[in-house]
Amino acid sequence: MSDTNAKISVLIPEERVEARIRELGEQISSDYAGRSIHMICVLKGGVYFMTALSKRISEDVPVTLDFMSVSSYGDDTKSSGVVKIVKDLDQPIEGKDVLIVEDIIDSGRSLYYLTGLLRDRHPASLHLCTLLDKPDRRVKEVKVDYEGFVIEDKFVVGCGMDYQQKYRNLPYIGVVELPE
Ligand code: IMP
Ligand code: MG
Repeated sequence: MSDTNAKISVLIPEERVEARIRELGEQISSDYAGRSIHMICVLKGGVYFMTALSKRISEDVPVTLDFMSVSSYGDDTKSSGVVKIVKDLDQPIEGKDVLIVEDIIDSGRSLYYLTGLLRDRHPASLHLCTLLDKPDRRVKEVKVDYEGFVIEDKFVVGCGMDYQQKYRNLPYIGVVELPE
């Protein structure tokens, strides 16, 4: 059963992640009072954060969900800037208050592309919520409306984020010590 597991150290413990998601839920609930939220999850990484966040939205604010998958070609830890839709949304977003939910914004290329594409579909509003933000690595400017944590340029896993498709299920945010 043994696998070549990378060494992982805890960057943000589970309790802090959960507390921050609760705060974001309260803030978003108050900002969207009297409206509903159509959450769009960017697969696969965003799925853990979106389900956790959606459970912290007030019952007075109806939440609907849809999923989209984009891939940016590149190696395991760096994206190339070429973005392709792997899975499109099931539902139209015209006239809806859309909240994109992402795991992490790195170069900003995927979100830059995605927000442009979604804006062309005429949602009533379009906002972006990310669990983590690595602003030092930004290549394309994206407006982040809600963010969990700003981190320095480190490759992280857990809470939906992977290294070679593994470690998404870790309940904390960890840093992978990559082999040289
Ligand atoms: P961007 O287009 O460079 O902003 O890349 C965003 C995507 O790359 C994220 O949604 C993640 O899926 C992935 N990514 C960027 N940084 C990390 C990281 O530190 N760990 C895991 N995935 C990452
Ligand atoms: Mg992602």
